[in-house]
Order: sequence, then C-alpha cells, then structure tokens
Amino acid sequence: MKASVIANKDYTISKIDDRVYGAFLEHLGRAIYEGIYEPDHPTADKDGMRGDVAKLVKDLNVPVVRYPGGNFVSAYNWEDGIGPREQRPTRLDLAWHTSESNAVGIHEFADWCATVGTEMMLAVNLGSRGVDEARNFLEYVNHPGGSYWSDLRIKNGRKEPWNVKMWCLGNEMDGPWQVGHKDADEYGKLAANTARAMRMFDKSLELIVCGSSNSDMASYPDWERIVLEHTYEHVDHISLHMYFANREDNTPNYLGLSEKLDTYIETVASTIKQVKAKKKSKKDVYISFDEWNVWYHSNKKDREILEGNGGWPHAPGLLEDIYNFEDVLMVGLILNTFIRRSDVVKIACIAQLVNVIAPIMTEKGGPAWAQTIYYPYYFASVFGRGTALQLVTNSPGYETTHAKNTAYVDVSGVHNEEDGTLTFFFVNRHTSESIESEVELQGFEKAEVIDHQVMTHRDLKAVNTAKAQDEVKPQKGSGAKAADGRLTVTLPPYSYQMVRVK
Ligand code: AHR
Repeated sequence: MKASVIANKDYTISKIDDRVYGAFLEHLGRAIYEGIYEPDHPTADKDGMRGDVAKLVKDLNVPVVRYPGGNFVSAYNWEDGIGPREQRPTRLDLAWHTSESNAVGIHEFADWCATVGTEMMLAVNLGSRGVDEARNFLEYVNHPGGSYWSDLRIKNGRKEPWNVKMWCLGNEMDGPWQVGHKDADEYGKLAANTARAMRMFDKSLELIVCGSSNSDMASYPDWERIVLEHTYEHVDHISLHMYFANREDNTPNYLGLSEKLDTYIETVASTIKQVKAKKKSKKDVYISFDEWNVWYHSNKKDREILEGNGGWPHAPGLLEDIYNFEDVLMVGLILNTFIRRSDVVKIACIAQLVNVIAPIMTEKGGPAWAQTIYYPYYFASVFGRGTALQLVTNSPGYETTHAKNTAYVDVSGVHNEEDGTLTFFFVNRHTSESIESEVELQGFEKAEVIDHQVMTHRDLKAVNTAKAQDEVKPQKGSGAKAADGRLTVTLPPYSYQMVRVK
C-alpha cells in the first residue's frame, strides 16, 4: 500500500502556539500528593517536591500547567492553601469524595512550576463561589503589594507577584456533575461579570471561558453560542474538553476518534465566527483545549474505590489509567489534529500530568516512570514547535462510526524557521499493512534525515510498569531516506513515527 504527501514551505496553516503542548494538574487522587509532592521521598527537594518527577516533567518542556482543577476547583477555597501548613484546614472535596489536606496550595505549586520551567494557568471557582473570590485570588497572585491580599502573599513568603496571565473562568460548568452547575445563560452572565471585574484589575489578562465538557453533551453546541453571546468581548479563549476510549476493544474505530475531535474543533470554530459576526466584532476568540487524553482503563477500579469505600480518603489511587501501546497511536493522532488546527487551537492541556490519567506514574517511596503515551507527547512538545504546514496527503482509508473515510496515514508537518528543521509525525492506522510513504519536499530540496524515531509493538495492549518501564518505548529508525527533494519512509502497521529533516 502507498501514500503520498506534498509539503511546501510556503503553504502554511499557522504559527503553532507553544502552549498547545500544555498540561493539567488537579487536586485529585495522587496527582499532587505522591505525584509531584512527597516530602519523605528519597528524591524530594527542600519543599517536598519529588525530583524524579520534576525531571520527567522538565524533559517534556511543558509550556503551561493548568491548576488546581478540574471538578475540584468548583468547591475549592484557595485561601485554605496559604499560610503556615500546620494551620491549613482539612476539607472535604465534594468532586472526588476525598479529603484535601491543603499541604499544597498556590505557593507550593508556583515554586514547583518555577522548578520545572513552566507557566501557571489558574482556574477560579465559579461553582460554589463567584466574582468576589476571583478578584481576591487575582489580587493575591498578581498585585505587587500595598493591598490586603497582596500584603498577605508577601507575609506568606512571596514578595514578587507571580503575574499569571492565563485564567480559566470555572470548569465544565455545563456538566450536571459540577458543584454549582449552571445553564448556559446563567453561566454566561456570571462569566462575563467575572471577566469584567478581572479586566478592571488588568486588561492584559488572557481569559478562558468554559465551553462544552464533550461534544456528546445535550447542550452542545448551543452552549458555546449562548456563552459566547454573553462573553465574546470579555474573553480570549473558549475551553473544550474531550476524552478518548476504546471500551468496545475495536482499534480501527478507536483510532478514528480523532475525526470526531476535528469535527468538534471545526464546529466550535464556526460558532465563534457566527458570534463574532453577530456582534460585528473585530476581536478574535480562540480555542483552549484544556483537557484531553485517553481515559477509560481505570473506570471500573474508580467505581470500586468511590462506591466501596464510603469514606473520605486522602489521595486515593483514582483515575490511574495504565496506558498501552494502542494509546500511543491515539495520542499521536490527537496531537496531529492540534497541529493541523493550530489556526484556532492556541492552548491545549494533556489531562493530566502525573498519576491521574497521566503520562507519568509514581509509586509511593518508589520509582517514577514514563507511561507509553509519554513519548508521542514528548516528541510533539520538544520537536513540534514552529509553523504547521498545510500538507496535501493522499492515503487510502476506511470507514468508522465517526467518519465515512479515515485515512490510514495521518501526518502533520512542522517547519521550525529558527533551526531550519522540518518535522513530520506519522501514524499508520492500518491493522496489517505497511504503507510506503513518499513526501515531496517543496522548498526543502536539499534536506537530509537528521532524526527518525519509531514506535511499534507486537502487542497493542503492552504497557509500561514500575518493573518493566521500557516495554514500550521509541527506537531509532533507519529506513527513512531524503534525497532530491523526496522523503521516503515505510510505515509499519499500527505505528507511530517522527522523521526530522534539515
Ligand atoms: O481530568 C479529570 C476530570 O475530567 C476533571 O476534573 C474534569 O474537568 C473532567 O470531567
């Protein structure tokens, strides 16, 4: 089987916003406690943050981390997480039916972000709280001093404001599971008022309003339209979430889910345009895809933990999906979609980063390791920076429940003007056939292959564990050749590859 691709230096989609390679950390399960923070761990630093986890995060070059939730934020009082640790209250977290010690709060999270070299993206609570909490939190975090909240921050040990630019106006407010869930009109009005108040403090903030929790919600896509009609002039991004699952154990159909993602983005981009036209506005609003990942492996175990226990455990092992090789392909496809939609998707956050539906896993007192999906995320984040090319791809395809024709070969191309490299991320969705692929390199005629990484596995369900950390990992490829403006590469069945030329 064969596929062909044309990559022309001048046919571009958009400059990719680095923040599409962002991540998310919530006070949920063992993401914070035993994830990033474990004071008794042998690698812990003076603040109790695990050094082994920080190293794995740093290697990913994560540009932004969204915090502190998620569903958690909708009943969270950020003031519980400041001041002397021994005086911080233990609270019941209604979202995940657990106890929250508040040993980690905004100061500890901010210090950790500085350690791993990432920017903070903070969410305010628009579930159980509203405008007042948002303005106080903003003042605490961003005001230099000389006011009640900023002076309290200084007293608590942080002199300089953190100057956080990205603020989420609540989380998944369309979801009936959300504390303080609202209909689109109620939420739209609250979000507009909150945004207005926050902008009175600082016009330059980037504000993110909640879109749909997923594209199967009954309120979708009217939710986006109504919410944007209330908030269009006051916000910069609308947030979308989507999780991917292979519950039927049907891999071809599972890998077709990126078509559903593409349609979701396309629909919301059109809704944004519709509201823009209606408002006769000159301003643009973009998409912040601030929760995405594969999530289903842990569902049964989570039901047992939540239903079986009846108590309020602290940091139980919730949402601990153990990813397999097939999920590498799905994550590669999702990232390819964001690269191709980089004209409208300006922020995206893998959900989440450590232990909870995450590329990084830890054992208490033990090792931290990379799950299978760590690698496609790593390759995209480290090498997928630059300008997305508008590739012309010709590949045979197949039908799924999501689309009439899904190409076997899925590919994105990124031109990094600074270092002159061109990077391709390929996924072959075919069950059994290798695909000979040829890329015409227009404007890159002299390019040669400088790196080639391949991920394949005889067992789609193979996983990495604490004991077998390298069961699924990339191998250096050898078969990609570039000569006379043509790149040729063989894509084995069910494979992920990165090929870089210069
Ligand atoms: O990431 C896990 C949960 O998924 C988040 O708390 C919520 O926003 C979404 O439903």
